[in-house]
Amino acid sequence: MGIAAWADGEQQTRQVPLLPAYQQECAACHMAYPPAYLPAESWRRLMHTLPTHFGSDASLDTATAAAVSDWLGSHAGTYKRVREAPPENRITRTRWFIKKHDEVPAATWARPAIKSAANCSACHPQAEKGDFNEHRIRIPR
Ligand code: HEC
Ligand code: HEC
Repeated sequence: MGIAAWADGEQQTRQVPLLPAYQQECAACHMAYPPAYLPAESWRRLMHTLPTHFGSDASLDTATAAAVSDWLGSHAGTYKRVREAPPENRITRTRWFIKKHDEVPAATWARPAIKSAANCSACHPQAEKGDFNEHRIRIPR
């Protein structure tokens, strides 16, 4: 099950197919994060600050930005635990993320094979498919 399912505490088997422009433009430096992991407000803010995106320039042309922004907005998380906009528009700063990962020691995040909590696929090998199931977690040494 994906996060939408986890966050809502319900089974959900269907994964949202990614908008091709989102996959192409937003998965160059990191994975294409599932849209349901942030509320619409966070996606909106993030899409308005792309030239200063976490120290990178992730600018898009106006038409592409509008299309990606609309798509993210309409697939954003609406579940109770996702609705609150986190600091820095980071999934990794949401309450549900911190709670779910509270057993991961600080030193683990810093391992060379992981580097950042934002590097989901380091520990969730099926993350690109939207699969974060706890049974498939592998934490690299
Ligand atoms: C030029 C590289 C680059 C591109 C292109 C890019 N990003 Fe990022 N993004 C980053 C970096 C660097 C970070 C910070 C990663 C970290 O903290 O380890 C980041 C972080 C994020 C985060 C927060 C991750 C967390 O900590 O929860 C989100 C959400 C995000 N990007 C969405 C997007 C979206 C949407 C797009 C497409 C419009 C995009 N990114 C395109 C470089 C990029
Ligand atoms: C250092 C390895 C690591 C990284 C990196 C990581 N996770 Fe996790 N993740 C875990 C562990 C460990 C758990 C706890 C599993 C459990 O509850 O037993 C977990 C749990 C989860 C869960 C709940 C799964 C379930 O079945 O209950 C979700 C959703 C999740 N992570 C999403 C993410 C996302 C999104 C990212 C990137 C933004 C990420 N994780 C990055 C290790 C990691």
